[in-house]
Amino acid sequence: MEIREMKLADVFTVAELESGIFSDAWSVSACRGAIDNKNIFPFVACDEPGGKIIGYAFLMGAADEAEILRIAVAKEYRRMGVADALMEKMIRYGSDDGYCFFYLEVRAGNEPAVSLYQKWGFNPAGQRFDYYKNPPEDALIMEMALEE
Ligand SMILES: CC(C)(COP(=O)(O)OP(=O)(O)OC[C@H]1O[C@@H](n2cnc3c(N)ncnc32)[C@H](O)[C@@H]1OP(=O)(O)O)[C@@H](O)C(=O)NCCC(=O)NCCS
Repeated sequence: MEIREMKLADVFTVAELESGIFSDAWSVSACRGAIDNKNIFPFVACDEPGGKIIGYAFLMGAADEAEILRIAVAKEYRRMGVADALMEKMIRYGSDDGYCFFYLEVRAGNEPAVSLYQKWGFNPAGQRFDYYKNPPEDALIMEMALEE
């Protein structure tokens, strides 16, 4: 497996994965906008160096805080450590860039994602009621501070 920065040419594959995974999928132009945004750091996971994209993640930084906007893995490649590798990359990249506080929002009932975030040291910090649509669901806010 290889984790690398997302390139413009990757947006079609990433948007196609998005549409199969999320009900509020990011379009090609939304993915392109994220790549063009200097505060957003997007990564892809490939099955081998230079190979097929099997997962991706978007991290957004501001001041000393970084938000995990998105992380997803193609269904047939789940439970193989791909998300772990993306989390490791984002947290290392963020910490190298001076971000010491990480946070995110996740559907409260998304057990795989909540478990992933807990594994990486994120703790529940609040809830937004009825935050998501299609289907309606609360958002759980999770955060993690890197130790000095
Ligand atoms: C959440 C998601 C990214 C996990 O990806 P993955 O590559 O399968 O995860 P990994 O194999 O790296 O597993 C890492 C950890 O995640 C958790 N996890 C992953 N899948 C899980 C599942 N089905 N049930 C419970 N925990 C799970 C575990 O803590 C796991 O650690 P462990 O293997 O030591 O138990 C993947 O299920 C996914 O793409 N879901 C749809 C998109 C999504 O909901 N993204 C999050 C919101 S943006």
